[in-house]
Amino acid sequence: MIAIRAAALAVAAALLPLQTAAAAEQVNVYTYRESKLVQPLFDAFTKDTGIAVNVISASSGLEQRIKAEGAGSPADVLLTVDIGRIDDAVAAGVSQPINSPVIDEIVPPQYRDPDGHWAGISMRARVIYASKDRVKQQAITYEELADPKWKGKICIRSGQHIYNNALFAAYAAHHGEAKAEQWLRGLKANLAQKPSGGDRETARDVAAGKCDLGIGNTYYWALMMNGDPDKKPWAEATRVILPTFEGGGTHVNLSGVLLAKHAPNKANALKLIEWLAGDKAQQIYADANYEYPIRPGVALNPTIASYGRLTADPMPIAKIAAQRKTASTLVDKVGFDN
Ligand SMILES: [Fe+2]
Repeated sequence: MIAIRAAALAVAAALLPLQTAAAAEQVNVYTYRESKLVQPLFDAFTKDTGIAVNVISASSGLEQRIKAEGAGSPADVLLTVDIGRIDDAVAAGVSQPINSPVIDEIVPPQYRDPDGHWAGISMRARVIYASKDRVKQQAITYEELADPKWKGKICIRSGQHIYNNALFAAYAAHHGEAKAEQWLRGLKANLAQKPSGGDRETARDVAAGKCDLGIGNTYYWALMMNGDPDKKPWAEATRVILPTFEGGGTHVNLSGVLLAKHAPNKANALKLIEWLAGDKAQQIYADANYEYPIRPGVALNPTIASYGRLTADPMPIAKIAAQRKTASTLVDKVGFDN
């Protein structure tokens, strides 16, 4: 019931114009993250600062909405996941540089835009869900996924999905376009089935014996293990391996924040953005979403910690974003999804 009511409120919120004149100190947040995930965070922010947070939550179209609202847009902050969506928002021209010495100090440079338009506030990693029964090795590289020894043994969702787009873009950023193409052909040749479903279904198919290795994001495994009794067997049949690039680390992506171009409450927006990178927010946010905090020294959720020590790929996220189009073109060229 509570979930249904929250969903109904989220829909209602998305349809109603924001009340911008009520409170003296406020900030308007447009978010792709579910209300139930972000509300505890905003409640804590209001408690700390006295600034009310008005939330508009939707699963798509927020940057188009901000664009359509133009100079009169009430949006102050846009909260979203994946560099693909962050990049799209910047391309839509709905952001402005954050220009915060606090963010520059707290958020490592590889996790923020060199031009200041976005900053990561937490991370997810794209990893392997390995069959506990059939996979004995404890470590793997992304490069090895194209090794013929895995022929017919790998499951993955569409190569055009933003999560894979970023992973393949990272491969191209490391090795160049020609080697990325060769690798994608090798990976394609190793697939047990046509790319399909989402990351949870990938775990399901590993559990069902259709494949030995699935590729998925870190938080889905934790959600299946801790939050969804129906899917728990899929997590229990698999083990998370944190793969690395040869000579690099594990591919990570971001939950990020942008400052809206016409933010009417810019000072409060900056306070919120800086607060999100603080210790308390990092803990709440990372724990609620099963993500990795962006700053070192914040305790990990125990399930996430159980994957082992994350050595995040040092490749700057902006350099990965610059290869998104190349990755997408290659996926079509090698017929990855066919
Ligand atoms: Fe996701």
